[in-house]
Amino acid sequence: MILIVGGAGYIGSHLVKELVKREEVIVLDNLSTGHLEAVDKEALFVKGSLGDADILDSIFTRFPIKAVMHFAANSLVGESVVNPQKYYINNVASTLSLLSIMLKHNVNKFIFSSTAAVYGIPGEDLINESTATNPITPYGKSKLMMEQILADYSRAYDLHYVILRYFNAAGACETAEIGESHQPETHLIPIVLQHLLGMNERITIFGDNYNTTDGTCIRDYIHVSDLVDAHLLALDSLLNEKNKSATYNVGNGIGFSVKEVIETSEAITGRTANLVIEDRREGDPACLVASSEKIMKELGWQPRKNLEHILESAWRWHRNQNY
Ligand code: UFG
Repeated sequence: MILIVGGAGYIGSHLVKELVKREEVIVLDNLSTGHLEAVDKEALFVKGSLGDADILDSIFTRFPIKAVMHFAANSLVGESVVNPQKYYINNVASTLSLLSIMLKHNVNKFIFSSTAAVYGIPGEDLINESTATNPITPYGKSKLMMEQILADYSRAYDLHYVILRYFNAAGACETAEIGESHQPETHLIPIVLQHLLGMNERITIFGDNYNTTDGTCIRDYIHVSDLVDAHLLALDSLLNEKNKSATYNVGNGIGFSVKEVIETSEAITGRTANLVIEDRREGDPACLVASSEKIMKELGWQPRKNLEHILESAWRWHRNQNY
């Protein structure tokens, strides 16, 4: 049985939907940002917080957990700047409590969701795993701290991990039953598609004076199904290989500017966006594009979806919502 903490969230729920086809799955989520209806019915669901040691202890006592995947983090860069306490408590302290209970129960396989935010403002255009990490926000720092702690734990204890550094996750599953839904929504793609559906009068572009082709920020958008594939391969590698621990970037290797995302969305939906340019958003690097050579080479991962697939699937999902 595999424990998925945060399995009711955007990426966690997409992973659970695939994982139940091959493993028994138990989801722990406090539903603070996740959605119960997004959790596949095949999975066992427990409502509770990662920081609740008693609930965790009883899960590990009652179920034969082979590995843990951790999606239960706060992930809003801007919020982390104004409320760092929330990020260090939820993303670091609660994860430490999870690791202690795993070690107590001799569960030693761990997949950790990290982020491109650990790189801060990178010096190079194509980021690989040895690019210097220098996070500029408490969110990015909270993830890097956990990465460093995992490295120390694996050296000292019998703990094996795969860290996946996500670039910009987006899109919805093939059947469009589940998709990206945050409250409040801060991510570019859902904001653009919701606007094209008639919600919000305009899209605000945060800065058009960056040193990029059209002045707007460039990001590497990765389809949530491709991210799910990366997790499944990571899990296989932990279950099959002894003494494995590794850190991988997960991105498409192609960057799109904010304007390109909006233009492609207009082309796909046949609708026109109303744009306004405002000041830069604090903490936004100009360009974040991944080299994912390492995970391709070591785990055989291959992204299958491009920006059009991402936008088409997300559009299908947003159109089905009762906004
Ligand atoms: N943007 C706008 N207008 C909006 C929303 C976003 O112009 O209304 C811009 C942002 O300024 C940024 C780009 O669109 O340049 C992408 O912004 P998102 O908020 O969609 O994504 P981020 O790149 O800021 O953040 C994402 C994840 C984080 C993760 C980060 C790593 O949400 O959790 O990628 O790069 F840390």
